[in-house]
Amino acid sequence: MSKLFGAFLVLLPLVAGQLNRAAKEDKKLYFGSATDNPEWNDTEYVRILSNTANFGQLTPANSMKWDATEPEPGVFNFTGGDQVVQLAERNGQIMRGHNCVWYNQLPDWVSSGTFTNASLLNIVENHCSTIVNHWRGKIWDVINEPFNDDGTFRETIFFNVTGTAYIPAALRAARAADPHAKLYINDYNLEEAGPKATAMINLVTALKSQGVPVDGIGVQGHLFVGEVPDSLESNLQAFTALGVEVAITELDIRMTLPATEALLEQQKQDYFNVISTCKGVSGCVGVTLWDYTDKFSWVPGAFPGQGAACPWDENLNIKPAFFGILDSWQ
Ligand SMILES: *[C@@H]1O[C@H](CO)[C@@H](O)[C@H](O)[C@H]1NC(C)=O
Ligand SMILES: *[C@@H]1O[C@H](CO)[C@@H](O)[C@H](O)[C@H]1NC(C)=O
Ligand SMILES: *[C@@H]1O[C@H](CO)[C@@H](O)[C@H](O)[C@H]1NC(C)=O
Ligand SMILES: *[C@@H]1O[C@H](CO)[C@@H](O)[C@H](O)[C@H]1NC(C)=O
Repeated sequence: MSKLFGAFLVLLPLVAGQLNRAAKEDKKLYFGSATDNPEWNDTEYVRILSNTANFGQLTPANSMKWDATEPEPGVFNFTGGDQVVQLAERNGQIMRGHNCVWYNQLPDWVSSGTFTNASLLNIVENHCSTIVNHWRGKIWDVINEPFNDDGTFRETIFFNVTGTAYIPAALRAARAADPHAKLYINDYNLEEAGPKATAMINLVTALKSQGVPVDGIGVQGHLFVGEVPDSLESNLQAFTALGVEVAITELDIRMTLPATEALLEQQKQDYFNVISTCKGVSGCVGVTLWDYTDKFSWVPGAFPGQGAACPWDENLNIKPAFFGILDSWQ
C-alpha cells in the first residue's frame, strides 16, 4: 500500500506534464490555455503555464481586445499583448490572437460613437489591419460572437450600422495585413445542433462563395457539467465539411458549487468527451482552456454560484478533469 503510494508520488510529476505532448502525438497543433497579464505575479501559475509538455499555445484573455489595443481613435497600445507574445515566444508556444471585432469590451469612442456605414467599416478595417499586422504569424479570432442564440445576427454597433458588411471587411483587412494569419469566426453555444450552428454554417458558406477569406470556426466550449451536447461531433464534422478547420477555443466545464466528488468525476468524463471528440475530427486542430486553473477562472464572476470549471483547482493542483483530458488524448 505505502509502496504503491510512493510509486504514485514518483510518477505524478511525469503524468502531470503531458497534455500538449499527447495532443501533438494525436496530430493536433496544440493543447493550450488562455492567460491574463495581471495573473503573472503568481510565479507558480506562470511556471505551470510555461510547461510546454502541458501547454503549447496561449490566448490573451483580455490584452488584445479593442479597449486595450485602440483606446482612442487611431491610437494603438500594444503593451499588454506584446507581453503575452513575449511569454509565448520565450516558452515556444503558438499564439491565438483574440480578437479583432467583438461587441463587448469596446472603448467608449466605438460603443457610443456616431458613424456612417462607410466610416465604421473604415474603422473596423483599420483596427483589424493594424493589430493583425503588428502580431503577425498568429491564429486570429477576427470575428467574435456575431450571433444570438436563435441564429439571428447580434444587434451590435457594427451590425446596426453596416449590416453584415463588417464581417467580410474585417476578414479581408486581416488577410491583407498578414497573408499567413489563420482567420477564425468564434462563438459560443456552437456545440449543440440548432439555429446558432446553422447560422454559422450559412455565414461561412456565404463568405466562401463570395471569396471572403475565412480559415476556421472557433467553438468556444463554455459548458456545464453533465450537459456536453451529443451533437458536438456532428457539428464539428459539419463545420469542417465547409472547407475550414475548427478548434475548441475557450473550454471550461462549470458546475453549481460546492464541487462534490461526484461532480468532479462527471466533469472528468465531460472533459474526456470533449477532447475525444476533437481528437476524432481530423479538421479539429487544437483545444484551448479558458485559463487552466479555478484560481483565475472567469466563471464565478459571470455565473454566480457556479465555478470549479477548470482542470486545476484554486491551489494550482490537478483535478480528476486533468486525467480526463490526458486519457482522451492517449
Ligand atoms: C497578484 O496581484 C493581485 C492584485 O493585482 C493580488 O490580489 C494578488 O495577491 C497578487 N498575488 C501574488 C502571488 O502576489
Ligand atoms: C497601455 O497598456 C498598458 C497595459 O495595459 C498600460 O499599463 C498603459 O498605461 C497603456 N498606455 C497608455 C498610454 O495608455
Ligand atoms: C441596435 O439596434 C437595436 C434595434 O434598434 C437596438 O435594440 C440595439 O440597442 C442597438 N445596438 C446598439 C449597440 O446600438
Ligand atoms: C454598408 O456598405 C457596404 C458596402 O460598402 C454594403 O455592402 C452594405 O450593404 C452597407 N450596409 C448598409 C446597412 O447599408
